Amino acid sequence: MKNFINISDLSRDELRSIIDKAKKRKSERGKKPHSQPDEDQPLNGKTMIMIFEKTSTRTRISFDLAVKQLGGSSIILNQDEFHYGKGDETIKDTAKVLSQYADILMIRTDLHKNVDEFKKYLEIPIINGLTDKGHPCQVMSDILTFEELKGEIKGKTIAWIGDGNNVANSFIEAATSFEFKLNIACPKKYQPDKKIINFAKKNKCKLLITDNPLKAVEGADCIMTDKWISMSDKGNKNTKKKALRKFQVNKKLMSYAKPDSIFMHCLPASRDEEVTSDIMDGKQSVVWLQAFNRIHAQKSIIEWCFK
Ligand code: CP
Ligand code: NVA
Repeated sequence: MKNFINISDLSRDELRSIIDKAKKRKSERGKKPHSQPDEDQPLNGKTMIMIFEKTSTRTRISFDLAVKQLGGSSIILNQDEFHYGKGDETIKDTAKVLSQYADILMIRTDLHKNVDEFKKYLEIPIINGLTDKGHPCQVMSDILTFEELKGEIKGKTIAWIGDGNNVANSFIEAATSFEFKLNIACPKKYQPDKKIINFAKKNKCKLLITDNPLKAVEGADCIMTDKWISMSDKGNKNTKKKALRKFQVNKKLMSYAKPDSIFMHCLPASRDEEVTSDIMDGKQSVVWLQAFNRIHAQKSIIEWCFK
C-alpha cells in the first residue's frame, strides 16, 4: 500500500513507471466508451472515496472515470455534506471510519497538513488531489501529455509564467526527478515555496527563477501558466493581479519560445488575465488534451498505490 502525496516522495523509477503504464493503458484502451471498464478491471470490487473541501470539475470527474475504467466504484464527499472540517469530528476519527468503508481515498484540501494528518490514521492509500502546497496528479498528467506530443521530457525546457503557486511547486519537484529544465518567471513576492526550491537546488535541479518572462520562455518547448488567484489565496487579489500583469502569456511572449512549442494550462483559466484567448484557443494550445489525460495519469497513480 502506497500514498501519492508529493512527487518528491517517489523514486525516479516509480515516477517513470507511472507515466509509462499510463501510456500503455491509454493506448490499449483505444476508443472504448468513457465508462466501460478496461479488460482486466484491476479495481474490481474496490471503492475510492473522494473528499472535496474545494470546488473541482476536472479532478472530480477524471478520478470518477479513472476508477470506473479500472473496474471499481467511487463515492464523492463534499465538505458540507459530511462530518469533516466543521469541528464536529476529528480527522483521526473520520480517517478510522473511512478506512473501513473504502479501499483508497483521494482528498482536495486547503491545508497540506490535513493530508498528512489523514495519512497518519488511514489504513488505506491516500492521493493528494490538490492542496495549498501542490497538485501532483495534475503535474503527472501534464508530463504524460507533454511526452505524448513532444517525446521524452528529460532535457527539455518548460517555462512556467505567473504565480509561483501549488502547481508550480509540484513542477519543481517533477523537474528534479524527471530531469527537465524549468524556467519560472514570477514576481519576487509570489515565488514558489522556499523549502521546495531549496530541495530542488540540493538535488541538482536545472531551475531558473527570474522576474523576466522573456528570459524564461527563451528556447522553451512548453509554456505554462495558471490562474493568478488560486482557490486558497487569502491576500489582496487586486495587489496580486497588478504585480502579475506583465506575466501574461500572449502572442508576443509566445513568439520568444520555440516556434513548435506548446501551451499548457491546468484549467480553470481566467481568460485575458494570465493568458489571452487567442493563445488558449490557438494552434499551440493543448489544454483540452491535458484535461482528458487526467483520467489516464490517475488510473496509473491509483494502480501504483495498490502495488
Ligand atoms: N486542473 C484541475 O485540477 O481542475 P479542477 O479544479 O476543475 O479539478
Ligand atoms: N492553482 C490553482 C489550481 C487549480 C486546479 C488553485 O489552487 O486554485
